Amino acid sequence: MRNFSFEVRLRRKTRAKSIVQQVTLLGILTLLIGCKPHTDASPAGPEILALGAEVFEMNCAQCHYDGSATETMPALKGSPALAGPAGNAIRIILNGQRGVSQVNGHTLGGIMPSQNYLSNSEIAAVVTYIRAEFSSGGAPVSEAEVEALR
Ligand code: HEC
Repeated sequence: MRNFSFEVRLRRKTRAKSIVQQVTLLGILTLLIGCKPHTDASPAGPEILALGAEVFEMNCAQCHYDGSATETMPALKGSPALAGPAGNAIRIILNGQRGVSQVNGHTLGGIMPSQNYLSNSEIAAVVTYIRAEFSSGGAPVSEAEVEALR
């Protein structure tokens, strides 16, 4: 009888130990999944990218759709305006653009109206987002960079 209760105690102890081990393992797994490196090239945090995506949906997507070229729109995907310094895209958004963009060597002649009603932080976020989403990423754009060109 004494032996039996000792065995039960031992088994309980082992079970408790294995639960602790499982919980620890689960914790480590969650951490590993959480720390999975970003697949996009942008070192920008998820908050600025989420804000940028929202600004894009609300202010750009009605013309630029998903960033692909159409008969009247230049592609943002692989756009030379996004590959260069961030200032290029900031200027286009602040000042608008007309008759510059090309598709397959042809000037489109479309008009992009100025989007300067957007705040510095909204423009910083949307430029960070479109460079990450449609180009090679680059450093996150700061509000000061936008203010300097406004
Ligand atoms: C009313 C439609 C419209 C809206 C809204 C608009 N765009 Fe444009 N965008 C255009 C057109 C048209 C062009 C091409 C202008 C040209 O021919 O020079 C363009 C050009 C561009 C280019 C240059 C592409 C290249 O490679 O030449 C960028 C970058 C861009 N837009 C970003 C944006 C962003 C970001 C927003 C939102 C904040 C936005 N646009 C909102 C119509 C629009």
